[in-house]
Amino acid sequence: MADTPRHFLDISDLSQAELRQILDRSQAMKIARKGWPKGHVEADAPLKGRVLAMIFQQPSTRTRVSFEVAMRQLGGEVLVISANDMQLGRGETVADTAQVLSRYVDAIMIRAKRHDHLLELAQHATVPVINGLTNKSHPCQVMADIMTFEEHRGSIDKHAIAWVGDGNNVATSWIHAMTKLGGELRLGCPTELSPDASALAWAKDKGGKVKVTTSAEEAVTDASCVVADVWVSMHDTDAKARHNMLKPYQVNAALMKKARPDALFMHCLPAHRGEEVTADVMDGPQSVVFDEAENRLHIQKSILLRCLGAE
Ligand code: CP
Ligand code: NVA
Repeated sequence: MADTPRHFLDISDLSQAELRQILDRSQAMKIARKGWPKGHVEADAPLKGRVLAMIFQQPSTRTRVSFEVAMRQLGGEVLVISANDMQLGRGETVADTAQVLSRYVDAIMIRAKRHDHLLELAQHATVPVINGLTNKSHPCQVMADIMTFEEHRGSIDKHAIAWVGDGNNVATSWIHAMTKLGGELRLGCPTELSPDASALAWAKDKGGKVKVTTSAEEAVTDASCVVADVWVSMHDTDAKARHNMLKPYQVNAALMKKARPDALFMHCLPAHRGEEVTADVMDGPQSVVFDEAENRLHIQKSILLRCLGAE
C-alpha cells in the first residue's frame, strides 16, 4: 500500500513542530528573496517539473493568485480549473475526480463549497490535497495570519488574540492554530453564530486557551490583535439576518480602544468597510491587512514544499 500523501487539510492535523517548520521556512524565504522581482524563480527551483491543479467551487482573488505565483517562484506550474467547467459540475464523483487528477498532476488545491468534498478528495487522491477554504475552515489563511502577527509582535504564544463577529470557517482555523501554538484566543460572537462546537470541544480536549463570549468588548479587552471577517461568507444564504445579528460586532475605533494600545487589526479580506470594520480602522495605522495578504504567498510556498516533500 502506498504511503498516505502529505495533505494540508487542517491546522489541527499537524504537530506544533510541523507548524513551526512551515512558519519558519516561509519567513526565511520571504527574507531571502527581498529585492528580487516577483517572477524571479528560486535559484534551486525546488518544484521544477511539478504541476499543481487548483479547483475552485467558489470565487477567489488571493488564494488563486498567491498559489499560482508561489508555484512559479518555486519553478513549478499550475492549472486553474473552475468546478463549473469540470465534469464534477455535472455529476462526476469527487472520488473519481481525485483518482483522475492524481494521474496528471503532483498536487491538488481545492476551494470547496463543502468540507466533506475536501475530505473525499483527500481520501481518494494519491497526491497531496490542500484546503484552499471550505465552509468549515481556511487553514492557509490562518497560517499567513500567524506569520503576520509574529513578524510584528513576536511569538504568538505570549499574546491574546480577539476574534470578533461570525464564528465562521476562518474562526475555526484560528481555534486550531492557537490551540496548537499556545496563546489565548477570545471569540466574541452572537449566540446564533457561535464557533463550530466540534472545534471548541477539540480545543478544550487539547487544553487550548480558547474562550467564547457574546460580548465584543469582553473579547477585545487588552488583546494584542483584533481579527474581523465578513458578516456573510460565500456559502451563507441568510444575509439579512446576519447583518442584523452582527451590527453590534463592528470593529470600530471605540472597540479598538479597548484592546492594547499597540494592538494590530487583521482581516483575511475581502473586507466590507462600514460593515464588519470601519474604514478608519481598516486603513489606519494598526491595520496589517495587506501584510496578511502578502504573506499568503510566502506561506503557500512553504506549505507546497511540505506537501511535495521538497525538504
Ligand atoms: N482571504 C482569501 O482567501 O481571499 P480570496 O477569497 O480572495 O482567495
Ligand atoms: N469567511 C469568508 C472568508 C473569505 C476569504 C468566506 O468564507 O467567504
